[in-house]
Amino acid sequence: MAAPILEVRAADVFYGASQILFGIDLAVERGQTMALLGRNGAGKSTTFKAIAGIAPPRRGQIALSGTTVSGKPPYLVARAGIGYVPEDRQVFPEHTVEDNLIVGAKPGPRGDRHWTTARIYEVFPILAGMRHRIAGRLSGGEQQMLTIARTLMGNPDILLLDEPSEGLAPIIVRAIGDLIRTLREMGVTILLAEQNMHFCMGIATHATVIDKGQVVYSDTIAALRGNEAVMQRYLAV
Ligand SMILES: Nc1ncnc2c1ncn2[C@@H]1O[C@H](COP(=O)(O)OP(=O)(O)O)[C@@H](O)[C@H]1O
Ligand SMILES: [Mg+2]
Repeated sequence: MAAPILEVRAADVFYGASQILFGIDLAVERGQTMALLGRNGAGKSTTFKAIAGIAPPRRGQIALSGTTVSGKPPYLVARAGIGYVPEDRQVFPEHTVEDNLIVGAKPGPRGDRHWTTARIYEVFPILAGMRHRIAGRLSGGEQQMLTIARTLMGNPDILLLDEPSEGLAPIIVRAIGDLIRTLREMGVTILLAEQNMHFCMGIATHATVIDKGQVVYSDTIAALRGNEAVMQRYLAV
C-alpha cells in the first residue's frame, strides 16, 4: 500500500517547558477528509502547527508521502506539499482578491500547476465576482474562502483547515461546508480541525478525536456518529 499523504508518528510537542501533545499518531490517506475533533484546548491547533513546522515535535516524526518533513522550516514544509490555513484567516488586506490569489501561486511538490485563478473562480464563483475588490473589505466568511483559495493556489498535496467555521454566521458556515464538500468530491485531501462535530457530518470521511493532547479515538465518521460514549465524553455535543 502507498504511504499515507500525511503521517504523524508519536509526536510530542512542547511550548517552552510545558508539554502540549503526547505521542500523537495520525494518518491521512489520499482523498480522505479527516476531521480532527476535540474540545477547546485539546491540542488541535498545536497539532497543525507541529505539522506545518511552526511548533516542531521534540520527539516523533511527521512524514508526507513517506518523506520526513519534521525538522524542516515552515517554508520548506509548505513547498513539500502542506497547505496550512491557520485559525486567523490572513489575507493581504490592501490588495485585491485576485492579487491575493496570485501571491499564493506556486507549483506543487512535483511541479504541477493544477490550480489557476480560472479554476479557482470555477470552484469559488463568489470570488469570481469579487476579483477586483480589496480583500480587507470582504466579510469574515469571504476572507475565509479567499484564504482557502489562496492556499490551493500553492497546489498542496493536503489542505489543513483550522476551524474554518469559527465565528461565522450559520448561513456562511453552511457555504464553507458546501465548499469543503466540493473540494473533497474533487479529490482534494483534507485535514479539518473542528470543535463542532455537527459541522463535520456530511463533510468528513474519517475522524480522529484528541483530548488533553492525546489521540483517544480514530475511525470513520460514521463509526464515530454511532459511538455515543466517545461523543459524550470528548466532544461538546
Ligand atoms: N503559544 C502557546 N504557549 C503556551 N501554551 C499554549 C500556546 N498555545 C496554546 N497553548 C496551550 O496548549 C493547549 C492546546 O491548545 P490548542 O492547540 O490551541 O488547542 P485547540 O486548538 O484544540 O483549542 C491549551 O492548553 C493551550 O492553552
Ligand atoms: Mg484551535
